Amino acid sequence: MKFFVTCARGTEGALRRELVVQRIHAPRGAAGGVSFEGTLEDGIKVCLWSRVAMRVLLEVGRFPASDGRTLYAGTRAADLSRFLDSKTTLAVTATTHESPELHHSGFAALKVKDAVVDALRDRLGHRPNVDVKNPDVCLVLHLRGSDARLFVDLAGEPLHRRGYRVAMGEAPLKESLAAAVLALGGVRAEQPFVDPMTGTGTLAIEHALASRNIAPGLRRAFGFERWADKGHLPVFARLKQAAQEARLPKAPCSILARDVSTTAIQSARRNARAAGVAEDILFEVADVATPVSRNPAGTICINPPYGERLPGPAPEPPLDQLYATIAHTLDLMRGWSAVILCGNPLLARILQRKHEISHRLWNGPLEARLLVYRL
Ligand SMILES: C[S@@+](CC[C@H](N)C(=O)[O-])C[C@H]1O[C@@H](n2cnc3c(N)ncnc32)[C@H](O)[C@@H]1O
Repeated sequence: MKFFVTCARGTEGALRRELVVQRIHAPRGAAGGVSFEGTLEDGIKVCLWSRVAMRVLLEVGRFPASDGRTLYAGTRAADLSRFLDSKTTLAVTATTHESPELHHSGFAALKVKDAVVDALRDRLGHRPNVDVKNPDVCLVLHLRGSDARLFVDLAGEPLHRRGYRVAMGEAPLKESLAAAVLALGGVRAEQPFVDPMTGTGTLAIEHALASRNIAPGLRRAFGFERWADKGHLPVFARLKQAAQEARLPKAPCSILARDVSTTAIQSARRNARAAGVAEDILFEVADVATPVSRNPAGTICINPPYGERLPGPAPEPPLDQLYATIAHTLDLMRGWSAVILCGNPLLARILQRKHEISHRLWNGPLEARLLVYRL
């Protein structure tokens, strides 16, 4: 079976390494994702264990499609009996690139939906229902030129929705991006970890989950549980059981999460509780200028305000002042590593340090930089 696993742009390397650790054979990188060939069990394992992936797509058809007619015919020939029957609902999404007659992704999705519904009506004498909000089966079309690839999304809801984000905050990171920042930054479980601008707690929570070897998909449901054919569910139950047994009872080292905002700390604490890692994280309301215990050395991981996304009046204090405070805090942490995700180049200029890593990645449509320093 052929899989394409999607992730945020710039995080493909972290995803590929994760798949290798999961013993997925020969994952190959591409822009925005990684492909591999394997079994359905491999795909389910990636859903359960990948911290960086967004979607796990199983290829169910590949055919030439230069217009609506050929797209309809190609889709109709795909065998989807394993996924869909008269009781399952479906939704279709499409992306199109350089396809002059099919440049409208909504139209392409409609053609795919029509073909699937017609094929099913012929096979079962019954039309399946479309449910765009909460479908049992999510079909995804990728069209590049006249090369059409049709996929079934194994996870359904994107994988970054682990199910623990019960409280929101200002500009929270996607869980999968936070996990990629930790992986690309080389953050280690057996060293102290400090997130002094924690917001909703995503970095600290993802670090706690990884430190305790808790599979990120353990607390959520997956699309493949709702397919017509449920023959793979015993395999899923076995993988889940093994994941439950692999959890460590507590994080091996201290994790400190701070924020100047009391509301943010309340949200972070609620989210950590929902993730089952509240006991592993010490939460404090504190300014980033407040010193932390420096021994033993560990990692300080910061996702400061960018100054762009937030509507309303200019930030108080001004960003250059806030970034100067961060620079001063880092000056006090000799021997530590600093992993910083920031979308504003002003921060690197104010830090005036030689970075060990400077890596470009995308936080949704926003380009950001992951900077790693040895202090
Ligand atoms: C971009 S948000 C962090 C988002 C976080 N990574 C998440 O996933 O929710 C930046 C955070 O820095 C906090 N902050 C701003 N100024 C601060 C300061 N002087 N000291 C500590 N935290 C501060 C804000 O309250 C906000 O929660």
